[in-house]
Amino acid sequence: MKIQHLKLLNFRNYEKIELNFSQNYNIIYGNNGVGKTNLVESIYVLALTKSFRGSVDKVLIMNNKDVCRVEGTVQDKYENKYKVIIKDGGKRVKINNTKVDKLSDYISKISVVLFNPDDLRFIKDSPSVRRKAIDLEISQINNIYLKHLNTYNKLLKQRNMYLKTTNINANASSEYLDILTGKLVESGEKVYLSRKKYIDLLNERIGSIYNSICGIDDLKLEYVSDYKNFDREKILNKYKENLNRDIILGKTGFGVHHDDFRFKFMGYNIKDYGSEGQQKNAIIAIKFTELEIFYQIRGNYPILILDDLFSELDRFKINNILNLINDDIQTFITTTDIDKISEEILSKSKLFEVDDGYVRED
Ligand SMILES: Nc1ncnc2c1ncn2[C@@H]1O[C@H](COP(=O)(O)OP(=O)(O)OP(=O)(O)O)[C@@H](O)[C@H]1O
Ligand SMILES: [Mg+2]
Repeated sequence: MKIQHLKLLNFRNYEKIELNFSQNYNIIYGNNGVGKTNLVESIYVLALTKSFRGSVDKVLIMNNKDVCRVEGTVQDKYENKYKVIIKDGGKRVKINNTKVDKLSDYISKISVVLFNPDDLRFIKDSPSVRRKAIDLEISQINNIYLKHLNTYNKLLKQRNMYLKTTNINANASSEYLDILTGKLVESGEKVYLSRKKYIDLLNERIGSIYNSICGIDDLKLEYVSDYKNFDREKILNKYKENLNRDIILGKTGFGVHHDDFRFKFMGYNIKDYGSEGQQKNAIIAIKFTELEIFYQIRGNYPILILDDLFSELDRFKINNILNLINDDIQTFITTTDIDKISEEILSKSKLFEVDDGYVRED
């Protein structure tokens, strides 16, 4: 999957630009605060209709303007034109100039794998951040996964509502609750199995990819789930055992909504044990593993964005990482420090020099 052409209107600090990209390496360089991340963010917005910076859509619109537009031509099996238009009141998306009503129909079309220094949150933050990231990855290769997840979340909400309105002294084990719990377990199993399958696929590859970056292959992502070794009877019993507590707390304490994922490095949780650099390498390893899994399932690579990858990494690791990128992967690299990239890679890259909302193409 390759983006050939990009056109921005009032996107962050870009009033109007048009760029043509290389099929391989695109290196976006310039000083701090000039708009390098904004530029790759626009590609992400074109794919997913929202920012990876977690900001509200409105901040993507250039200050003092009403509307912003990101347009791109993307080559997959076919060449298509994509467009995202953001206004204060909402957004619209188009493919080949035809409006797409459901965002979910649009979002699955362009695939992007992004590394950004904020991704260290995957290690440092709460389980919900990790679940969100893994869910996003699975949804890129499994079309029905989000449906299962939405069903689960809907049932969970219904069950929690019921628990909140149930009196502990009343006959709590109503037929309604049993049916709800049964359905919850059924869709929870689907979520669990998809997550497990994905983590197994990741673990088949992540060790050797981590090894290529830093010479140690002992990295695994551990999947921690209440549904571990799923057994329907046992799990239904758990809900029965927990019922009184669930009623007191007014929420369901058991299930895949508590799942977590932990990087294990030499047997330890990397969160407590790993250095900043080791943590960063683990995140990079997971991103490259995602690329390979996507390729295996879809037969092509997503677009790879490496935003500010180089800070904190030594030259040796940087070039190990860049060597993992094969010629079939279209890559966007932002950096303040172009000197850190080897001559070999620079010679096959297209360079874009950014200066306060202006981009000079080489
Ligand atoms: N909605 C907006 N309208 C106008 N300018 C904006 C808007 N949002 C952000 N900016 C500007 O964009 C600039 C930041 O751009 P960006 O984050 O892309 O920098 P960068 O080149 O990646 O810097 P660094 O090297 O520090 O990561 C800031 O100067 C900020 O004021
Ligand atoms: Mg930046």
